[in-house]
Amino acid sequence: MRTRLENLDGLALTFANEASPAFLSGKNMDEAPILRNAFLDMEGGMIVGFGLMDDIRPEDDPPRIRRVDGRGRWALPALIDSHTHMVFAEERSEEFEMRMRGATYAEIAAAGGGILNSAAALEVCSEESLVHALLQRLSQARTSGSAVVEIKSGYGLSLDAEIKMLRVIKHAKSLTRMPLFATFLGAHAVPSRFQGQREVYFDEVLNVMLPAIASEGLADFVDIFCEDQYFTPNELSRLAEAATRLGLPLKAHVNQFTSTGGIQASIASKALSVDHLEVMTEQDIADLKDAWSNSTGPMPVALPGCSLFLNIPYAPGRQMIDSGLPLALASDFNPGSAPSSNLMLVWSLACHQMKLTPMEGLVALTINAAAALGVSQRMGSIAIGKEAHVLLTKPIQGLASLPYHFGENLIEHTFVFGQ
Ligand code: NIG
Ligand code: FE
Repeated sequence: MRTRLENLDGLALTFANEASPAFLSGKNMDEAPILRNAFLDMEGGMIVGFGLMDDIRPEDDPPRIRRVDGRGRWALPALIDSHTHMVFAEERSEEFEMRMRGATYAEIAAAGGGILNSAAALEVCSEESLVHALLQRLSQARTSGSAVVEIKSGYGLSLDAEIKMLRVIKHAKSLTRMPLFATFLGAHAVPSRFQGQREVYFDEVLNVMLPAIASEGLADFVDIFCEDQYFTPNELSRLAEAATRLGLPLKAHVNQFTSTGGIQASIASKALSVDHLEVMTEQDIADLKDAWSNSTGPMPVALPGCSLFLNIPYAPGRQMIDSGLPLALASDFNPGSAPSSNLMLVWSLACHQMKLTPMEGLVALTINAAAALGVSQRMGSIAIGKEAHVLLTKPIQGLASLPYHFGENLIEHTFVFGQ
């Protein structure tokens, strides 16, 4: 049966099919289209129509339509979280308390906390309880507008435990309608049994884990934490090359704490996205601009929840958009650096702290987030034939009301495949 959201005060990011872009960059981000007094039709899990209320022709309507009154409300493409670490055994609030007492994230990690703490907890946690916790986190994320979520491994750090994490994601895929994407992040940290032997561990990631995971079809993407004390740009390049041969695009954690050349290695490796970007040099931005000047470079993905929680700089989103680049936003939801999946809060932070306009924030959380996953032909905007992942707001004054009311939940419903 057809579902029609009608009398919508606003419907954002509407594109005629031939004009439907894969992403928006620079000035175009703020100029994304909006319809006022609009309707949206969904059927069979897809968007099958939209337009102005005045343009509805009742003679063309099917006999049965389920009507949802959208008076005073907006419908938007549902939010897409292109970067999370949503499979984990338990929270790390004791590390949060240590930080509040003066320790730094790096000091906690060096003392065996951080990622290694999560790896130890995951090792002894059953697959079943990880699936259960993941499903709960996914439904929580959906209440704040997310319909689509990318999830990384990286708290396993051994072949068996990385496979366990990716199987948890695969199992969850079969239990939820929300589209999920799995990313292999074996190169997240050097496990303690390889202490002082980063190269040896990296070889295992490259030559043992990656081929095994690819042959089981457990990952859609590959990722690496490219950072001082973690992995190098050269390792990023080697991983990207091997992953590309296996048909797996690279997404990379770069420039979270230091600029080490991860951006340049990602560009050269044709990575799909470069994520974090809290610490960017002028050269990093210039190189990204260069990469985007004649073709598509890696999608820059900012994670303002991580900046808030670790009290580190925000990615220079305003500067990147002003220089003509596209930008995506994601939650980075994880127990150490961003324990929240709330993309509405991320939207607020992007406006308040990174000086994005409300529309730029929405574009960064929808069509550009879809591009960071290479799926913008399927989702991320309102266009006929796209999957019907749609967010219906509560009554609001306008689009800006959503990031304005920070920490509030103004979502009425998040439709996934029209349901
Ligand atoms: O994206 N930076 C690397 N990985 C995560 C943090 C992981 C953790 O602290 O558990 C991030 O911020
Ligand atoms: Fe991350």
